Amino acid sequence: MCYAYWQFLKNRHAVNDEGHMSQKQTISSLQADLKRYRQVQEMALLLNSQSSFDELFRAIVSQVSLIIEVDRTSLFLLDEDKHQLWTKVAEGLSKQITIAVGVGLAGKCALQGQPILVHDAANHPDFDSGWDDKLGYKTKTVLCYPVFNRTGELKGVLQMINKRDDLFNIQDQELAEVCAAQVGGALENFQLIEELRCGFESFIRTLTEALDAKHKLTAGHSNRVTEYSLFLAAKANLGEDLIDVLKYSALLHDLGKIAVPDQILTKDGRFTPRELEVMKSHPFWTGKILSRMHLPRNLIKVPEIAASHHERIDGRGYPQGLANGAIPYLAKIIAVADVFDALSSRRDYPKYDGNKPEDSGREALKMDRVFEIMQHGSGTQLDAELVALTLKHRNELEQLWFDLHVLDDE
Ligand SMILES: [Fe+2]
Ligand SMILES: [Fe+2]
Repeated sequence: MCYAYWQFLKNRHAVNDEGHMSQKQTISSLQADLKRYRQVQEMALLLNSQSSFDELFRAIVSQVSLIIEVDRTSLFLLDEDKHQLWTKVAEGLSKQITIAVGVGLAGKCALQGQPILVHDAANHPDFDSGWDDKLGYKTKTVLCYPVFNRTGELKGVLQMINKRDDLFNIQDQELAEVCAAQVGGALENFQLIEELRCGFESFIRTLTEALDAKHKLTAGHSNRVTEYSLFLAAKANLGEDLIDVLKYSALLHDLGKIAVPDQILTKDGRFTPRELEVMKSHPFWTGKILSRMHLPRNLIKVPEIAASHHERIDGRGYPQGLANGAIPYLAKIIAVADVFDALSSRRDYPKYDGNKPEDSGREALKMDRVFEIMQHGSGTQLDAELVALTLKHRNELEQLWFDLHVLDDE
């Protein structure tokens, strides 16, 4: 990227060497170019450090406006299937807009794959003044530059509007080429990461759905536990950086049930003590299987967290009998979500040895009873603060339960 800009600087100063500028002009031009060179470097660093598409979009438009010194920048992305350009981040616009390839200046730029430089927008045949009228804005000068990926495929168009205090010149066009190359590289990196992330997530979700589907009464369990866990995380103000760790730990928490023989896993009725022992080995297997899986670096704690979802605050849980301080916080969240789902869903045997008649049925417990049991386990089985959060936000949690059980079944 920066090599392209270095070539641009070399060409410019080759012209200066021929004596068209005074020494003073050359120095001030060199200083301006060095400033822009630094800005281009900073842009490269900034674009490579963004963690979401929205942030990347915002960084691109603000950096390009800064470097090219324009009033507004828009980044249009190409939707090849619809033969459209779309943008959701354009300076001065608050909603997503789409334009057909071939229509307007950006559309023409996409169609031709060539930059378009306009000094008098109002009198240009391809300029659509509709947006100016809607926004009460006056577009005077426009520079559109196509954005390609490394293999030369068109990915979008950078549109820069109203060069500050001047008209666009050839240097702006060359600088726009450097910016477009950086944007193309950053978009390609981001799309590759996004594809990998989507592929990973769909693999994990398919795996857990296949596991849950082994028994009709556990269908959807892993997904619901994940949704309840994320709900609790939001109420507990869990840091953004831990959300993915929690999500994948929750999705995979019962993966170890793969190691439990089907005649036990799908048994209709109470377990014998021996069967119960085998069943209780599943979190151990969850940890074992996940620790053999190659996980992204940010998910390195997933095996430990997922394997700890049956640990108890009082140390009487399994598989390790860890006590409060030794249990990962995210595992405590999953434990609360797991118990909530077990009690509030249909089950194939009484999961709670309570003293009330309704505890022995197979239907989901009434919500009052669910919260009563959870409160009973607060501070011994489950983390007291997390249980308190479920009570504090009971209405919202019940709404989520409704969405996951009733709406999903429709
Ligand atoms: Fe479990
Ligand atoms: Fe579970």
